Amino acid sequence: MQQPIVGIPVFRISWNAFTASALALALALALALSSSPLFAQAGLAEQEGRAMRIGIIGSGTMGGAIGLLWAEAGHEILFSSRNPDELMDLVQSAAPRASAGYADAAAYFGDVILLAVPPGAIPQIGEDIGHLMQGKVVIDLTNPRADRDGPLTDEWLEMGTGLAMAQYLPGARLVKAFNSLGARMLANPIGRSGEKIGVPIAGDDAEARDIVADLVRDTGLEPVMVGRLERAKEFDRGSPVWVSGQSAAQLREALNLR
Ligand SMILES: NC(=O)c1ccc[n+]([C@@H]2O[C@H](COP(=O)([O-])OP(=O)(O)OC[C@H]3O[C@@H](n4cnc5c(N)ncnc54)[C@H](OP(=O)(O)O)[C@@H]3O)[C@@H](O)[C@H]2O)c1
Repeated sequence: MQQPIVGIPVFRISWNAFTASALALALALALALSSSPLFAQAGLAEQEGRAMRIGIIGSGTMGGAIGLLWAEAGHEILFSSRNPDELMDLVQSAAPRASAGYADAAAYFGDVILLAVPPGAIPQIGEDIGHLMQGKVVIDLTNPRADRDGPLTDEWLEMGTGLAMAQYLPGARLVKAFNSLGARMLANPIGRSGEKIGVPIAGDDAEARDIVADLVRDTGLEPVMVGRLERAKEFDRGSPVWVSGQSAAQLREALNLR
């Protein structure tokens, strides 16, 4: 046996010795490797040649689940936390396309950044590492909640969370998406109508919106283009479509997009 290459033992078998038992061994090895994450099938994004580097800031319920789905689609993910050593299980589940670090590493690494933290954390994140996100596609899935996010909650919802969070991230290509979901919808993307659940998207940069639409499809959900960032208010927490589980067609109707 030769030295392992990237952790996989390499066997050299001569044709003379290629007996029935060697064939059985080779087949068993092929089967074992095909079920290993390292040999996972190419995901949709990889097949379509649009795999990207994505930094995830906040790797909890939403950030963790979405990151896993994107890794499965073929994207490279850097999950981040204030305690990155606690993310090893997550990284292993997304192997080999994942790593872990602090938020600044995720912001530096990603062509796309997902903000999956409480919105009350965003002013500080913007101040500390906003410069690393300038010019990048930044997805904001936050929903302000007074008991958790403090006295600015009402102001942010009044303004619309798209415009509100943009104040803290100047120069980022900010797109609001995924905030209208419940976490369970990521595990089961088919709604009561029997169709895929729709994900409203709002942002001022058309190319960024298109990138996010593909990333929504990569999670098994259906993108719904709503328009400019100010329209994120129409699917913010408290709006009729928020966490409604409606299909893309139902959302278009409800949001007057026809
Ligand atoms: N859960 C849902 O169904 C759902 C659906 C749609 C949108 N959202 C929105 O998604 C966001 C995340 O929700 P979640 O349910 O995923 O929450 P979560 O499970 O608590 O995860 C949030 C993560 O943010 C990080 N975090 C918390 N406070 C922070 C701070 N001050 N600075 C930096 N990082 C901080 C934490 O990571 P570390 O402690 O590891 O650093 C935590 O893992 C929220 O804005 C929420 O409103 C949630």
